[in-house]
Amino acid sequence: MSYTTVDLTPRIGTEVKTDLETLTNGAIARDLRVLLEKRGVLLFRGLKITDEDQIKFASTLGTIRLEHGLQITKITPDEAKSPIFADYTKGTYYFHIDGTYTDMPGLASILHARSVAPAGGQTEFGNTYAMYEDMSAEEQEFLDGLAVIHSAEKIQRLANPNPTPEQIAAWGERVNPPERHPMVWHHRSGRKSLILAHTIKSIVGMNQGESDELLAKLMSWAEKPEYIYSHNWQVGDLLIWDNTGTMHRVVPFDLSCGRELDRVTLLGEEPITGPFRYHTVST
Ligand code: OGA
Ligand code: MN
Repeated sequence: MSYTTVDLTPRIGTEVKTDLETLTNGAIARDLRVLLEKRGVLLFRGLKITDEDQIKFASTLGTIRLEHGLQITKITPDEAKSPIFADYTKGTYYFHIDGTYTDMPGLASILHARSVAPAGGQTEFGNTYAMYEDMSAEEQEFLDGLAVIHSAEKIQRLANPNPTPEQIAAWGERVNPPERHPMVWHHRSGRKSLILAHTIKSIVGMNQGESDELLAKLMSWAEKPEYIYSHNWQVGDLLIWDNTGTMHRVVPFDLSCGRELDRVTLLGEEPITGPFRYHTVST
Protein backbone atom coordinates (compact mmCIF):
# COMPACT_ATOMS: atom_id res chain seq x y z
CA MET A 1 0.00 0.00 0.00
CA SER A 2 1.16 3.49 -0.63
CA TYR A 3 -1.21 6.10 0.74
CA THR A 4 -4.42 8.02 0.19
CA THR A 5 -5.55 11.34 1.66
CA VAL A 6 -8.78 12.88 2.90
CA ASP A 7 -8.90 16.59 3.69
CA LEU A 8 -10.31 17.34 7.15
CA THR A 9 -11.37 20.92 6.35
CA PRO A 10 -10.94 22.93 3.12
CA ARG A 11 -8.07 25.14 4.39
CA ILE A 12 -6.18 23.05 6.94
CA GLY A 13 -5.68 19.41 7.96
CA THR A 14 -5.48 16.17 6.00
CA GLU A 15 -5.85 12.58 7.12
CA VAL A 16 -3.29 10.29 5.51
CA LYS A 17 -4.24 6.64 5.24
CA THR A 18 -1.32 4.27 4.98
CA ASP A 19 0.26 1.33 6.80
CA LEU A 20 2.92 1.34 9.49
CA GLU A 21 5.67 -0.02 7.24
CA THR A 22 5.14 2.68 4.60
CA LEU A 23 5.01 5.34 7.29
CA THR A 24 8.26 4.36 8.98
CA ASN A 25 10.46 3.24 6.05
CA GLY A 26 10.63 6.70 4.47
CA ALA A 27 8.96 5.65 1.19
CA ILE A 28 6.51 8.55 1.30
CA ALA A 29 8.54 10.96 3.42
CA ARG A 30 9.14 13.44 0.58
CA ASP A 31 5.46 13.54 -0.29
CA LEU A 32 4.56 14.01 3.37
CA ARG A 33 6.93 16.98 3.74
CA VAL A 34 5.26 18.67 0.76
CA LEU A 35 1.79 17.85 2.04
CA LEU A 36 2.64 19.08 5.53
CA GLU A 37 3.68 22.48 4.23
CA LYS A 38 0.56 22.66 2.11
CA ARG A 39 -2.00 21.39 4.64
CA GLY A 40 -0.47 22.41 8.02
CA VAL A 41 -1.60 19.29 9.90
CA LEU A 42 -1.45 15.60 8.95
CA LEU A 43 -3.30 12.88 10.86
CA PHE A 44 -2.62 9.13 10.90
CA ARG A 45 -5.21 7.02 12.64
CA GLY A 46 -5.48 3.39 13.74
CA LEU A 47 -1.83 2.42 13.24
CA LYS A 48 -0.94 1.05 16.71
CA ILE A 49 2.46 2.70 16.83
CA THR A 50 5.22 2.22 19.41
CA ASP A 51 7.74 4.79 20.69
CA GLU A 52 10.25 3.34 18.22
CA ASP A 53 7.81 3.78 15.31
CA GLN A 54 7.20 7.41 16.27
CA ILE A 55 10.95 8.08 16.43
CA LYS A 56 11.59 6.24 13.17
CA PHE A 57 8.82 8.13 11.38
CA ALA A 58 10.11 11.47 12.72
CA SER A 59 13.64 10.72 11.48
CA THR A 60 12.39 10.15 7.93
CA LEU A 61 11.15 13.77 7.90
CA GLY A 62 13.93 15.70 9.61
CA THR A 63 16.30 15.83 12.57
CA ILE A 64 14.89 15.06 15.99
CA ARG A 65 15.56 17.73 18.60
CA LEU A 66 16.49 16.32 21.97
CA GLU A 67 14.51 17.89 24.77
CA HIS A 68 16.27 17.56 28.10
CA GLY A 69 18.26 14.77 26.51
CA LEU A 70 15.21 12.80 25.36
CA GLN A 71 13.70 12.14 21.94
CA ILE A 72 10.17 11.85 23.34
CA THR A 73 8.66 14.44 25.68
CA LYS A 74 5.58 13.51 27.73
CA ILE A 75 2.94 16.22 27.27
CA THR A 76 0.75 15.92 30.35
CA PRO A 77 -0.19 18.06 33.36
CA ASP A 78 0.71 15.08 35.57
CA GLU A 79 3.87 16.22 37.36
CA ALA A 80 4.92 12.71 38.26
CA LYS A 81 5.04 11.81 34.54
CA SER A 82 6.29 15.13 33.22
CA PRO A 83 8.04 17.29 35.80
CA ILE A 84 9.25 19.51 32.96
CA PHE A 85 6.12 20.10 30.91
CA ALA A 86 3.34 19.90 33.54
CA ASP A 87 3.55 23.55 34.59
CA TYR A 88 3.27 24.73 30.97
CA THR A 89 -0.10 23.09 30.35
CA LYS A 90 -2.31 26.09 31.08
CA GLY A 91 -0.13 28.26 28.84
CA THR A 92 -1.03 25.96 25.93
CA TYR A 93 -4.70 27.01 26.26
CA TYR A 94 -3.74 30.16 24.30
CA PHE A 95 -2.80 30.18 20.61
CA HIS A 96 0.95 29.98 20.13
CA ILE A 97 3.74 28.73 17.91
CA ASP A 98 6.34 26.66 19.75
CA GLY A 99 9.68 28.38 20.23
CA THR A 100 8.79 31.92 19.12
CA TYR A 101 11.18 33.21 21.74
CA THR A 102 14.07 31.70 19.79
CA ASP A 103 15.30 32.72 16.33
CA MET A 104 14.59 29.29 14.84
CA PRO A 105 11.43 27.55 16.05
CA GLY A 106 11.10 23.82 15.48
CA LEU A 107 10.04 22.67 12.02
CA ALA A 108 7.25 20.40 13.19
CA SER A 109 6.09 18.31 16.12
CA ILE A 110 4.57 14.85 16.11
CA LEU A 111 2.09 13.93 18.83
CA HIS A 112 0.98 10.41 19.69
CA ALA A 113 -2.10 10.12 21.92
CA ARG A 114 -1.57 7.77 24.84
CA SER A 115 -4.56 8.83 26.93
CA VAL A 116 -7.25 11.37 26.03
CA ALA A 117 -9.46 13.75 28.02
CA PRO A 118 -13.11 12.69 28.39
CA ALA A 119 -14.15 16.32 27.75
CA GLY A 120 -12.17 19.19 26.21
CA GLY A 121 -8.50 18.55 25.39
CA GLN A 122 -8.94 19.00 21.63
CA THR A 123 -5.88 20.53 19.98
CA GLU A 124 -6.81 23.38 17.62
CA PHE A 125 -4.59 24.48 14.76
CA GLY A 126 -4.82 27.67 12.69
CA ASN A 127 -3.35 28.14 9.21
CA THR A 128 -1.12 31.21 9.48
CA TYR A 129 -0.39 31.26 5.72
CA ALA A 130 -4.09 31.44 4.86
CA MET A 131 -4.76 34.18 7.42
CA TYR A 132 -2.15 36.37 5.76
CA GLU A 133 -3.02 35.45 2.17
CA ASP A 134 -6.68 36.44 2.69
CA MET A 135 -5.86 39.97 3.85
CA SER A 136 -6.09 43.01 1.63
CA ALA A 137 -2.87 44.30 0.04
CA GLU A 138 -2.99 47.33 2.39
CA GLU A 139 -3.27 45.19 5.50
CA GLN A 140 -0.50 42.93 4.30
CA GLU A 141 1.79 45.86 3.66
CA PHE A 142 1.06 47.38 7.06
CA LEU A 143 1.73 44.12 8.92
CA ASP A 144 4.80 43.42 6.85
CA GLY A 145 6.39 46.56 8.23
CA LEU A 146 5.98 45.55 11.89
CA ALA A 147 8.40 44.05 14.36
CA VAL A 148 7.12 42.34 17.50
CA ILE A 149 8.57 41.12 20.78
CA HIS A 150 7.77 37.53 21.83
CA SER A 151 8.08 36.40 25.42
CA ALA A 152 7.39 33.00 26.98
CA GLU A 153 6.58 34.73 30.24
CA LYS A 154 3.81 36.74 28.57
CA ILE A 155 1.75 33.67 27.64
CA GLN A 156 2.44 31.95 30.96
CA ARG A 157 1.24 35.01 32.84
CA LEU A 158 -2.03 34.90 30.90
CA ALA A 159 -2.50 31.40 32.26
CA ASN A 160 -1.02 32.07 35.70
CA PRO A 161 -1.73 35.70 36.61
CA ASN A 162 -0.05 35.37 40.01
CA PRO A 163 3.03 33.26 39.38
CA THR A 164 5.17 31.97 42.22
CA PRO A 165 8.88 32.86 42.30
CA GLU A 166 9.55 29.21 41.32
CA GLN A 167 7.38 29.58 38.21
CA ILE A 168 9.10 32.79 37.18
CA ALA A 169 12.43 31.10 37.76
CA ALA A 170 11.33 28.23 35.48
CA TRP A 171 9.72 30.10 32.58
CA GLY A 172 10.45 33.78 33.15
CA GLU A 173 12.36 36.15 30.92
CA ARG A 174 15.66 35.49 32.66
CA VAL A 175 15.57 31.89 31.45
CA ASN A 176 13.86 32.58 28.12
CA PRO A 177 14.80 36.11 27.09
CA PRO A 178 12.29 37.85 24.79
CA GLU A 179 12.99 37.70 21.07
CA ARG A 180 12.28 40.25 18.33
CA HIS A 181 10.65 38.98 15.15
CA PRO A 182 8.91 40.37 12.11
CA MET A 183 5.12 40.04 12.19
CA VAL A 184 5.28 38.34 8.81
CA TRP A 185 7.58 35.43 8.05
CA HIS A 186 9.10 35.48 4.56
CA HIS A 187 9.80 31.80 4.04
CA ARG A 188 12.55 30.45 1.80
CA SER A 189 9.81 29.00 -0.37
CA GLY A 190 8.59 32.51 -1.17
CA ARG A 191 5.38 32.08 0.83
CA LYS A 192 4.52 34.40 3.70
CA SER A 193 2.77 33.63 6.98
CA LEU A 194 1.73 35.55 10.08
CA ILE A 195 3.72 34.89 13.22
CA LEU A 196 0.75 35.26 15.47
CA ALA A 197 0.79 34.02 19.04
CA HIS A 198 -0.04 35.04 22.59
CA THR A 199 3.70 35.12 23.22
CA ILE A 200 3.57 38.57 21.58
CA LYS A 201 4.24 41.00 24.39
CA SER A 202 4.46 44.19 22.41
CA ILE A 203 4.66 45.60 18.92
CA VAL A 204 7.69 47.79 18.32
CA GLY A 205 6.78 51.47 17.96
CA MET A 206 3.32 51.15 19.56
CA ASN A 207 2.27 51.81 23.12
CA GLN A 208 0.89 48.90 25.13
CA GLY A 209 -2.74 49.86 24.48
CA GLU A 210 -2.28 50.06 20.69
CA SER A 211 -0.28 46.89 20.65
CA ASP A 212 -2.86 44.91 22.70
CA GLU A 213 -5.65 46.26 20.50
CA LEU A 214 -3.97 45.21 17.26
CA LEU A 215 -3.13 41.79 18.67
CA ALA A 216 -6.75 41.25 19.74
CA LYS A 217 -7.95 42.31 16.29
CA LEU A 218 -5.56 39.93 14.55
CA MET A 219 -6.51 37.08 16.85
CA SER A 220 -10.19 37.52 16.12
CA TRP A 221 -9.39 37.39 12.39
CA ALA A 222 -7.19 34.35 12.93
CA GLU A 223 -9.81 32.46 14.91
CA LYS A 224 -12.33 32.47 12.07
CA PRO A 225 -13.55 28.85 11.73
CA GLU A 226 -12.28 28.52 8.16
CA TYR A 227 -8.64 28.80 9.31
CA ILE A 228 -9.00 26.31 12.17
CA TYR A 229 -8.87 22.54 12.44
CA SER A 230 -9.93 21.25 15.87
CA HIS A 231 -8.63 17.76 16.53
CA ASN A 232 -10.69 15.43 18.69
CA TRP A 233 -8.17 12.92 19.99
CA GLN A 234 -8.60 9.16 19.92
CA VAL A 235 -6.06 6.95 21.69
CA GLY A 236 -3.37 5.95 19.18
CA ASP A 237 -3.76 9.00 16.92
CA LEU A 238 -0.52 10.26 15.41
CA LEU A 239 -0.60 13.89 14.33
CA ILE A 240 2.08 16.17 12.91
CA TRP A 241 1.84 19.93 12.60
CA ASP A 242 3.94 22.36 10.59
CA ASN A 243 5.16 24.66 13.35
CA THR A 244 6.28 27.26 10.80
CA GLY A 245 2.87 27.73 9.15
CA THR A 246 0.33 27.08 11.89
CA MET A 247 -0.46 28.22 15.42
CA HIS A 248 -2.03 25.90 17.99
CA ARG A 249 -3.79 25.73 21.36
CA VAL A 250 -5.46 23.18 23.59
CA VAL A 251 -9.10 23.37 24.66
CA PRO A 252 -9.11 23.45 28.50
CA PHE A 253 -9.64 20.09 30.16
CA ASP A 254 -9.69 18.55 33.64
CA LEU A 255 -6.03 18.56 34.64
CA SER A 256 -6.45 15.41 36.71
CA CYS A 257 -8.03 13.33 33.92
CA GLY A 258 -4.81 11.62 32.80
CA ARG A 259 -4.52 13.20 29.32
CA GLU A 260 -1.13 12.19 27.97
CA LEU A 261 0.53 12.75 24.59
CA ASP A 262 4.03 11.79 23.48
CA ARG A 263 5.77 14.51 21.48
CA VAL A 264 8.73 14.33 19.12
CA THR A 265 9.97 17.66 17.75
CA LEU A 266 11.97 18.25 14.58
CA LEU A 267 14.71 20.86 14.52
CA GLY A 268 13.96 24.05 12.64
CA GLU A 269 15.51 24.33 9.18
CA GLU A 270 15.18 28.07 8.54
CA PRO A 271 15.39 31.01 10.91
CA ILE A 272 12.48 33.41 11.01
CA THR A 273 13.14 36.00 8.35
CA GLY A 274 11.21 39.15 7.58
CA PRO A 275 11.32 41.68 4.78
CA PHE A 276 14.84 42.71 3.86
CA ARG A 277 14.54 46.14 5.42
CA TYR A 278 14.56 44.61 8.93
CA HIS A 279 18.01 43.25 8.77
CA THR A 280 20.98 45.16 9.91
CA VAL A 281 23.65 44.58 7.33
CA SER A 282 26.95 44.18 9.08
CA THR A 283 29.97 45.42 7.19
C1 OGA B 1 2.72 21.31 22.50
C2 OGA B 1 1.35 21.74 22.78
C3 OGA B 1 -0.63 20.51 22.41
C4 OGA B 1 -1.51 19.56 23.15
O1 OGA B 1 3.02 20.12 22.67
O2 OGA B 1 3.53 22.16 22.09
O3 OGA B 1 1.02 22.89 22.69
O4 OGA B 1 -2.52 19.15 22.58
N1 OGA B 1 0.54 20.73 23.09
O5 OGA B 1 -1.22 19.23 24.31
MN1 MN C 1 2.71 24.11 21.86
